[in-house]
Amino acid sequence: MKRLIDSEEDNEDIQLESSIRPSSISEYIGQSEVKENIKVFIEAALIRDEPLDHVLLYGPPGLGKTTLAMIIANELHKNIKTASGPSIEKPGDLAAILSSLEPGDVLFIDEIHRIPRYIEEILYPAMEDFTLDIVIGSDSQARSIKIDLPPFTLVGATTRAGDLTSPLRDRFGIVCKLKYYTNEELQLIVERTSRVLEMPIDADAALSLAKRSRGTPRIANRLFKRIRDFALVAGDKKIDLETAEKALNRLKVDTFGLDEIDHQYLESLIQKFNGGPVGVETLASSIGEEVTTLLDVCEPFLLQNGFIKRTSRGRVATMKSYKHLGINYQENLFM
Ligand SMILES: Nc1ncnc2c1ncn2[C@@H]1O[C@H](COP(=O)(O)OP(=O)(O)O)[C@@H](O)[C@H]1O
Ligand SMILES: [Mg+2]
Repeated sequence: MKRLIDSEEDNEDIQLESSIRPSSISEYIGQSEVKENIKVFIEAALIRDEPLDHVLLYGPPGLGKTTLAMIIANELHKNIKTASGPSIEKPGDLAAILSSLEPGDVLFIDEIHRIPRYIEEILYPAMEDFTLDIVIGSDSQARSIKIDLPPFTLVGATTRAGDLTSPLRDRFGIVCKLKYYTNEELQLIVERTSRVLEMPIDADAALSLAKRSRGTPRIANRLFKRIRDFALVAGDKKIDLETAEKALNRLKVDTFGLDEIDHQYLESLIQKFNGGPVGVETLASSIGEEVTTLLDVCEPFLLQNGFIKRTSRGRVATMKSYKHLGINYQENLFM
């Protein structure tokens, strides 16, 4: 079974996914600051009849970066072409994408921090002057040619703004940081999904689910879909609090939204490493997880909610973690 906090897109059911995804800015819940800014910039671009400035969206997985990129294209009434950092393996890949753009297109590059530096350099003149500089031939035969590109908007998404080189970061006129959602916002998202999927949910049940979604719409929607399955099997016409809580407990999501991996992380940190400090690589190998999963998915949430601290010597468990796992804090200090 797919982990609930998995950072991967849900492509088990692409059609279902796209029906849940809001397609206009008015349906996009929360992130009010980002939304307000983007709305103004889009309106200005439409009035000037110029392409929108390049946009960088960053934040943990599942907070709505891809959704927002699609909404930006919709609101601009333009087509969106999508690519992702890891799929761009050689300069020609990027050159091919850029030269296929139509005037005003939105080019969405997901995981943009994963484009190798020497390929990324192609983006600089493309973003700045809408030109493509390519080198043809090799050695003494090599010559560089310039191709004009139509004006376009690059929307880049990354989970790690810190991994972006500064020449790339500096070329984005609009930089938006997506934040974790509040429980009330997640409740609205769950209720919206419930309407789209035609399975009603009581307000208290939606809130309970929201609270266990670690601030992340993707997790809220995943939980909703799983709970909907429980309700369907039980023959229920709607999801009430009891059904929701029973299902959530069976899915092993605790009241803070921590799942099994977070528990393993904290248990290992406290029990094997005396609460730290310990490096993330050591922790990852102690629980058999990828470092990137810990960096992108687990840690941002654990940090934000005060379960761990990051120090120059490594990760440290806070009192809150000890309490949450029911481990005595004092005892461990003297071990
Ligand atoms: N602001 C929002 N309002 C409603 N649903 C959202 C919102 N943000 C994200 N979602 C839902 O959460 C899921 C994950 O969003 P996505 O854009 O794929 O995240 P990211 O690209 O940041 O990983 C999508 O299925 C989308 O329907
Ligand atoms: Mg995405």
